[in-house]
Amino acid sequence: MANLFKRTHMCGVLNSEHIGQSVALNGWIQKRRNLGGLIFCDLRDKSGIVQIVFNDQIPQELFDKADKLRSEYVVGIKGTVMERESKNKDMATGDIEVYADDLIIYSEADTPPIYVKDDDNVSEDLRLKYRYLDLRKPKMQRNLTFRHKITKLTRDFFDSEGFTEVETPMLIKPTPEGARDYLVPSRVNPGKFYALPQSPQMFKQILMASGTDRYFQIAKCFRDEDLRADRQPEFTQIDLEMSFVEQDDVIDVQERFLQRVFKDLMNVEVQIPFPRLTFDEAMTRYGSDKPDTRFGFELKCLNDVVKGCDFKVFTDALEAGGDVRGICINGYSDKFSRKDVDKMTDSIKTFGAKGLIWIRVNENEITSSVNKFFTQEQLREIADVFEAKANDLILIVAAKPSVVFASLGFLRRDLAGKLGLLDDTQYNLLWVVDFPLYEYDEEEGRYFAMHHPFTSPKAEDIQYLDTDPGRVKANAYDIILNGVELGGGSIRIHDQNLQKKMFEVLGLTPEETQSKFGFLLEAFKYGVPPHGGLAYGLDRLVMLLCGADSIREVMAFPKNQNAQCMMSEAPAEVTAKELDELFIQTTVEE
Ligand code: AMO
Repeated sequence: MANLFKRTHMCGVLNSEHIGQSVALNGWIQKRRNLGGLIFCDLRDKSGIVQIVFNDQIPQELFDKADKLRSEYVVGIKGTVMERESKNKDMATGDIEVYADDLIIYSEADTPPIYVKDDDNVSEDLRLKYRYLDLRKPKMQRNLTFRHKITKLTRDFFDSEGFTEVETPMLIKPTPEGARDYLVPSRVNPGKFYALPQSPQMFKQILMASGTDRYFQIAKCFRDEDLRADRQPEFTQIDLEMSFVEQDDVIDVQERFLQRVFKDLMNVEVQIPFPRLTFDEAMTRYGSDKPDTRFGFELKCLNDVVKGCDFKVFTDALEAGGDVRGICINGYSDKFSRKDVDKMTDSIKTFGAKGLIWIRVNENEITSSVNKFFTQEQLREIADVFEAKANDLILIVAAKPSVVFASLGFLRRDLAGKLGLLDDTQYNLLWVVDFPLYEYDEEEGRYFAMHHPFTSPKAEDIQYLDTDPGRVKANAYDIILNGVELGGGSIRIHDQNLQKKMFEVLGLTPEETQSKFGFLLEAFKYGVPPHGGLAYGLDRLVMLLCGADSIREVMAFPKNQNAQCMMSEAPAEVTAKELDELFIQTTVEE
């Protein structure tokens, strides 16, 4: 007796063209119904589901065996494709069914703890614990397949553009970039540690010094940072670097790449070149360096209009060097109650905003939370900045610029989401360019590299490196899709003296520079081409194109919000013996 049926078709491909054919199928039982003389089963594989019928024409022994089938049993079925009497329009294979004449039960299954059904509403931790059941869902298999198609297209595209895929090491020297490193103890070098790479940044630059000319890699990256829907401790980049290029050369290849991705995988035409916004413009118009341009509600500056008004919150903010800015939710004032506005106020406190001022433009009058400080004429003047009309709601924040931008940028997108204005069939790709080179951290009282310390300053701004680092702009660029940062990159510094200056401004001593980045500087002593590149978050790209709301939906085995693998229970404790071998003691109390 056969112990495996050689598959002739995948379940999901069968249709009326196959009527009369003998087929052999393998898969999982989705469900089974016994209607007396007839047993119906839905058989599922990654391509879809097909209905199987066991009727009274088959030997009793086979019928009894079919009666034992339960959800998630793994089976092989042989039978004949027949036309269905009552067709099911909701099913791709709904015109046919397979009359079984043979059955192998490969394995039985306990009652599954979660349903294998696309929109089953169970907790995510449970889904992650039983990921193998979760991944059987057609949607999850579609996501994995789509991800595979993107990586395949990526390899083909960059190959055709003269890029070479090179693997860079996973055990590297700890040199924290933005986030915390994951450390790996070295047994053979007691007391020393490797780090898992936050990105292949330094190695790809050294590859340029090595003459690789154009490099790419589908690279695993590791960052020990706080997790969110679009962040994982372990994620994948499409990472690339090019020699002898300027910003426009890098951007040109990327636009053609993304155009191909959209055309080949989504059948969507995206126009190139993509719009470019400077960092300053993105902040002043959208309050964000990753603007979502699918809807309006742009920020407006009210500093001039409210200058000298009677409302101290505004004048104090201006005096302290802050801003008064607002957005106008045009046409939707009636959609938001007083309570909703209170909730908005709470939601922006996380960004440091102390309050939110509202102005409602009605047919005959303008009402506001600050009515008593302003005349109707003054309120009208503010409303005119937004060209506001009846049923518009103006929301205003007064604070230091970073707080104003973060608060209004958040509200703008949050409210658009609540109003259903985020059309997920529209793909707004754009570049944000001319980032500041440095970011000042008030708590630490020093400058940080906004991108990373290898990004080059704009030639015309080099003169300000010593005197006014805050005004230096960088040759850095981010690619944004619908308000999500898909990727970012820069033209790098290839001049050693400039690189040293960069480290100096960052407050690194020559010794610190040497111990952290010495190997890169050493490599650059022996001839390095001008170079630049970029890295995409592959998970984010797949997430957005699949219409998923979290990158965990497009990763086979992601970690949960606490950076744990619910299925394998990583991270885990290790024995004292293992720690001893690594010369490690923990200070964690039992
Ligand atoms: P950056 O740090 O901007 O640049 O990362 C590039 C892209 O990687 C994605 N990304 C993440 N995705 C999921 N989870 C995370 N924790 C996470 N962190 C980042 C984002 C981001 O845009 N070496 C530079 C690139 C370069 O300069 O060439 C770098 O890593 O989509």
